[in-house]
Amino acid sequence: MKLFLDTASLAEIRKMWEVGILDGVTTNPTLVAKEGRKFEEVLREICALGVPSVSAEVVATASEGMIAEGRHLRGLHPSIYVKVPMTPDGLRATKVLASEGTRVNMTLVFSANQALLAAKVGATYVSPFIGRLDDVGQDGMELIRDIVTIYRNYRFKTEVLVASVRHPVHVLEAAKVGADIATMPFNVMEKLVQHPLTDLGLARFLKDWEKVPKG
Ligand code: E4P
Repeated sequence: MKLFLDTASLAEIRKMWEVGILDGVTTNPTLVAKEGRKFEEVLREICALGVPSVSAEVVATASEGMIAEGRHLRGLHPSIYVKVPMTPDGLRATKVLASEGTRVNMTLVFSANQALLAAKVGATYVSPFIGRLDDVGQDGMELIRDIVTIYRNYRFKTEVLVASVRHPVHVLEAAKVGADIATMPFNVMEKLVQHPLTDLGLARFLKDWEKVPKG
């Protein structure tokens, strides 16, 4: 399973990129606004690190505007994937952009039927937001199971990108279900690495090593 960071913070992306566990980055208008920097400048810097998949979202709501923005974003760097919201206009725009070879990440997906439509118009990724479903009392992971089943039934090539991840159990469950990608905040990715028994074990090994005669 590929692991993406859901952030527009270059410092966070750089840290995980250097560790070597990062496969991609997803951004959205909220995350970009947090940085207080120009969108395209941030995108160029992320791409310059060598991150192979960087999702950048269109903000137009009519299909013509989405297509124009999508073409522009795609032209910024070969690693850019264009994020398009799941609306009728978004579906129309995705069909056009995908037919031109642009890789589209259909976002704001909250039902399996929406995911079915994203696959039918040729989206490269579908982004179901599981944390936001959990927040309103629905089981987000159940949606991932349904989408994975539907895509397998019809051999759709669209990759399931589990989004709105809140904690490591979401990542674990997504991996067990067979999702292709999980995108998560920096603090969740950090928690994937950590275990208190690893820290304790290492401290004990280093202490015992001091007792070994040297020289
Ligand atoms: C995905 O691409 C979105 O940017 C993201 O996962 C949304 O997560 P949130 O519900 O924590 O805002």
